[in-house]
Amino acid sequence: MRKLKRVLTGDRPTGCLHLGHYVGSLKNRLRLQDEYECFFIIADLQVLTDHLEKYEEIQKNVFEIMCDYLAVGLREDNIFFIQSQVPELAELTVYFSFLVKLPELQRNPTLKEESKMYGVKKMSLGFLSYPVSQAADILFCKPNLVPVGRDQLPHIELAREVARSFNRIFGKKVFPLPQAVLSECPILIGIDGKHKMSKSLNNYIAFAHTPEETTQRILSAYTDPLRPYKKDPGHPEECLVFKYHSLFFPQVAQKILSQCKKAKVGCKECKLILAKNLNSFLAPIRKRRNYYHSRPKIVWEILANGTKKARKVAVQTLREVRKAMRFSYPF
Ligand code: TRP
Ligand code: SF4
Repeated sequence: MRKLKRVLTGDRPTGCLHLGHYVGSLKNRLRLQDEYECFFIIADLQVLTDHLEKYEEIQKNVFEIMCDYLAVGLREDNIFFIQSQVPELAELTVYFSFLVKLPELQRNPTLKEESKMYGVKKMSLGFLSYPVSQAADILFCKPNLVPVGRDQLPHIELAREVARSFNRIFGKKVFPLPQAVLSECPILIGIDGKHKMSKSLNNYIAFAHTPEETTQRILSAYTDPLRPYKKDPGHPEECLVFKYHSLFFPQVAQKILSQCKKAKVGCKECKLILAKNLNSFLAPIRKRRNYYHSRPKIVWEILANGTKKARKVAVQTLREVRKAMRFSYPF
């Protein structure tokens, strides 16, 4: 029996992490790391789905994302690992691919959304089947919980179906069903006030930004359009800046709420308060980020260790899988 319950989750290394990642997943992970054995996968292969042409940047992004994880306060002793460096995951993907019907993948709403967003007209086989590969990413370590954003729910459901069919067809309870956990604020709207915060839309605030850049970005944020002048009472419930206040600094938000409604605080002043508070919140994160960023040896070592541990678990699971599938030959 395992001592601790297990968590598995991860990201595609497509760039630096930002406040959207913080409220959507990192905050959750900070809490979970104290109670669970945590596996964090950096899904480098999965970048090839819709960013094949960016293959040369992947390694750099793996490094950046790892610096961000450590910067935000994830401990070094969690199991951080790189997808492509655990070949057992590829093997498991092949086995799982026989358990998933094509129409099921073609119906997957997240796949559809992603191919639309990146203008992919003809999907590669790897793109279409990445949820199967993600099922392998998840199931290999038999996690209890998989904390993710809402967009990932179809993939977790697929992983559960794969686990169910595997157990049913091969007559063994090899894979327990993992449970998805949604974070309290899965989607943070970016400073444009329109879309989910994302690097590609340049509406984000990253841990890697300087305090000055952060202030600039907050000052340019979209606010209540019905309040062109300070003398007009505001509608904080509909204002993005207020949303950020309340997510990060709930006590300050109380004050802003009434002052904005009574036209006692101007938008610029309100944004400067937010920028100042965000910069204090980000200061220790930036400090840790710089520490790790200038010590790549430490960062790669953490990944090497985590990958070794993940592989050990994967090798054991694959042994069970081959045995259940009668692919363990007497030689
Ligand atoms: N698809 C996830 C994302 O885009 C990243 C990911 C890959 C993942 N493998 C995973 C998430 C396994 C959770 C579990 O964010
Ligand atoms: Fe938004 Fe603040 Fe302006 Fe009110 S004062 S509308 S909360 S930016």
